This record gives sequence, C-alpha cells and structure tokens, in this order.
Amino acid sequence: MALTLERKFILSTLLVLGLWASEAMSRTLYEASMSERHEQWMADHGRVYKDNTEKEMRFKIFNDNVQFIESFNSAGNRPYKLSINQFADLTNDEFQASHNGYKIPSHPRLSNATPFRYENVTAVPTSMDWRKKGAVTPIKDQGQCATDGTCNTKKEASHAAKIGGYENVPANSESALLKAVANQPISVSIDAGGASFQFYSSGIFTGDCGTDLDHGVTAVGYGTTADGTKYWLVKNSWGTSWGEEGYIRMQRDIAAKEGLCGIAMDSSYPTA
Ligand SMILES: *[C@@H]1O[C@H](CO)[C@@H](O)[C@H](O)[C@H]1NC(C)=O
Repeated sequence: MALTLERKFILSTLLVLGLWASEAMSRTLYEASMSERHEQWMADHGRVYKDNTEKEMRFKIFNDNVQFIESFNSAGNRPYKLSINQFADLTNDEFQASHNGYKIPSHPRLSNATPFRYENVTAVPTSMDWRKKGAVTPIKDQGQCATDGTCNTKKEASHAAKIGGYENVPANSESALLKAVANQPISVSIDAGGASFQFYSSGIFTGDCGTDLDHGVTAVGYGTTADGTKYWLVKNSWGTSWGEEGYIRMQRDIAAKEGLCGIAMDSSYPTA
C-alpha cells in the first residue's frame, strides 16, 4: 500500500526526532555512567579535589583517558592492553612532568677502558627471571608526586649512593644487555613518557615511545612468548596496580640499536 507524500514526511520527521532524542538520551546516560565511574575511581584511589571546578576539569581528563584506553583496547591491533589506573585523571603532559626528574642520567658514563665484566660471556639461558631466584625486592610505589611537584629525587639519589660502585653495560647493544641481565638484575633507563606507557596493563609492550630517557627501572629478566616475541622483564616502581603486578614486559631485540624506549642506551649494574 503506497503511503501519501504527507505521511512519508510525518513518518520520517518522527524517525529523525526519535533518533535525535535517543541519541541525546544515550549521551546523557553515557555521561552519567562515566561520572559514576569517576566517583568510583576517586574512592578507589583516595582522590579528593579542592572544589567543583577542579573536579570538572579532572572529570574531563578522566573521560578522555577512558575513551583513549577503550578505543586502544577495542582496536586490538597491539600485543598489549591498557587499563584505567591511578594515572587516569592526569593528562599525558602532567604524567610526564610527574615522572621525569631523571632528565640527566643519574651517573656519568664510565670510560671505554672500564671492562664490561660480561663481555666474554658466550652462552646465556634462553630465559631468565631473577624474581624466581629471590633476587628482586618487592615493588615500590613512588607515590603520587604527579601534580603537586613534590617528587622525591633526593631519596632516589641517596638510594643510589648506597651502592659501592657500578659498571656500565656497553651502550646501544641489546646483546650486551642480554649478557648482563643473564648474570644479574640491571638498572636501565627508558622513555616512559607515552600515554600507552602511562596506562600499560598487560602483554608485550611495543611502544609508542621515543628515546628521551626519563625514568629509571630495573631489567630483572627476559624471555620469549609462545608466539616468538622476545621481551625484557622490567620492574617498575609505580605500585602493583600498574602493569603486570608492577612489572612490564617490553619488546626485546628490535631493529633500532637503542632498544625499545631506549632501554639499551644507559644501563649499569652495581659492583659491591
Ligand atoms: C675477555 O677476553 C679477552 C681475550 O681473552 C681478554 O683479554 C679480556 O680481558 C676478557 N675480558 C674480561 C672482562 O674478562
């Protein structure tokens, strides 16, 4: 049965109105549920804002981060996942500012004359996990020195000063780093400033990151996944809710000699 032109017009107008209303409705529902998620997140992380203006500003950032994380995960084209964590109300700039304190390497490179004690190592195990050998202390939490600029760099420095001495791993060589990590946990420097690093949750991290070293971590092992991806097992200091119980597995043996996020650029090991 043919509809009259007038009826067609009325029907399509109703349809458009209906769509518009349901879109507005679902947007409102989305915002309401996002606001609930923000409230819940604030409770979980003990976050308190000084006033509503700050809360609205933080909510907007939280919302943007959740959307970034969810679209990253649903794209599913990377071997790692992101998740909402304690950094979810920080912009990536704020996150970087709160974790850098490391722009200058913590120690000078030693002269080339200093021997690399593992240089003559010829065979290394196919995998290593120093945690299983009881050689790794529990994960620390540097704390939220985010936003308030109270990052304790002195504490880190005095910690380093307790070490009797140190030797460098030859720079820009993942194979040298491998020899070293096969023998002991190694302090490494990385570029940890990217948004994907900020929200890393699990899997093999493949970037994005540059080589602007801004963070000190410890390589405590290495291995290869079932699908053949080689990785470094890296201990971070952002608490156990970040990454894989406080650890990250970072892709190993990449084309660039600096290693992923510059992991092979500035490594050292304590010599007691
Ligand atoms: C490695 O082997 C060479 C050749 O035998 C030797 O001269 C060098 O001292 C060795 N390096 C170390 C750190 O033991």
